Amino acid sequence: MIKLDANKIKEDFPFFQKNQNWVYLDSACTSLKPKQVITAELDYYENVSACASRSSHSLGRKATEAQDSARARVASFINSNQKEVIFTRNTTEGLNLAINSLDFSRLGKKKIVTTVLEHHSVLLPLFNLRNKNLIDLKVLECDSEGLISLDQWNDAINSNTALIVTNSSNNTLGTSQPTGEIAKIAHDSGAFICIDGAQGVAHQKTDFKKDDYDFLCFSGHKMLGPTGIGCLVAKSDLQKSMKPLVFGGGTVKTVSLEKAEFLENYEKFEAGIQNYAGAIGFGVACDYLKKIGMENINGHEKKLAAVAIRALEEAGALIYGSKEQKQSALISFNLKNAKPHDVALMLDKFNIAVRSGFFCAQPAMEAIGAKEGAVRLSAYLYNTEEDLTKFKEILLKVNELYS
Ligand code: ALA
Repeated sequence: MIKLDANKIKEDFPFFQKNQNWVYLDSACTSLKPKQVITAELDYYENVSACASRSSHSLGRKATEAQDSARARVASFINSNQKEVIFTRNTTEGLNLAINSLDFSRLGKKKIVTTVLEHHSVLLPLFNLRNKNLIDLKVLECDSEGLISLDQWNDAINSNTALIVTNSSNNTLGTSQPTGEIAKIAHDSGAFICIDGAQGVAHQKTDFKKDDYDFLCFSGHKMLGPTGIGCLVAKSDLQKSMKPLVFGGGTVKTVSLEKAEFLENYEKFEAGIQNYAGAIGFGVACDYLKKIGMENINGHEKKLAAVAIRALEEAGALIYGSKEQKQSALISFNLKNAKPHDVALMLDKFNIAVRSGFFCAQPAMEAIGAKEGAVRLSAYLYNTEEDLTKFKEILLKVNELYS
């Protein structure tokens, strides 16, 4: 295994050149961006700046080529076919599209299984369908360590199940689901599986084909790419029967006043002028991560997680969820007597960025016992052990204030 040199990686991130005294530990919210991504976006605006898949002038053709190449890079990153990648604004939009695109009455079954550890972006679209009586929803609970067993999945999924929606890694505890095995259970019962990969794809090697997912959603900005771009990867066969969420230009073969004939694959779902610069940056971010290697990034994160856990234990913090099962450097915690937002604001005074609150996953936080929210640190490939040493020094001081 190649050793990952986080100090060297930092050199690629203009943020650190311009903000040398910052310790950025909020990558689960959004990651920082390397110069390769920023330059690629800028290059589109400075040298192309045209519409893809429309105008036949050479700038238009360049935009089309750049967008196609971006789609191919994203597809290659998660081992899918290029045509399966539908660009969206973010994971949230991808999840909404996947969840709303299935016709449950045509499928003849309407049970959906999900978990309490999901982000609101999973739960709210499902609640919306449940409120309209279009689905029956089964929400799996977690144990006190924040874990859900395969037995629970096995017991919940049956021939009435139409769809499973689960994260591959969650944004509250940094623990993962065995999604390949869950996909097998789903398919054995004739159900589809939709993966919220917002936190998983950025931190662990993800293989759409090998794990046999039907839908996979993720965001560019959590994996070194720009904000405002993400994707829903959907199996080609499934895309044929999926209903678009947004209708408009670029999605049709022909239109008369009576009817419209839609294009196939991703084109049917990408209505209107797209975020070309974002897609280009997203593709470059995928290449950047691939070059370093997701195994190396994951190994580095697990080391950082162990260091962070020791620091938190020294400060007497209450750490939520299993410490052993962490698959990324993401830890939610609370200090005795201190409100989460107060701790985050104190750390901010010393240029340490962490997130506090419910992290858009209130049922998950309540299920693991953080009834008033928590503080969350989330480190990434550019974080060093020195970052965590600084975090510990300040956290110990904050803790003293509240003791
Ligand atoms: N879902 C993002 C987070 O966990 C915004 O912070």
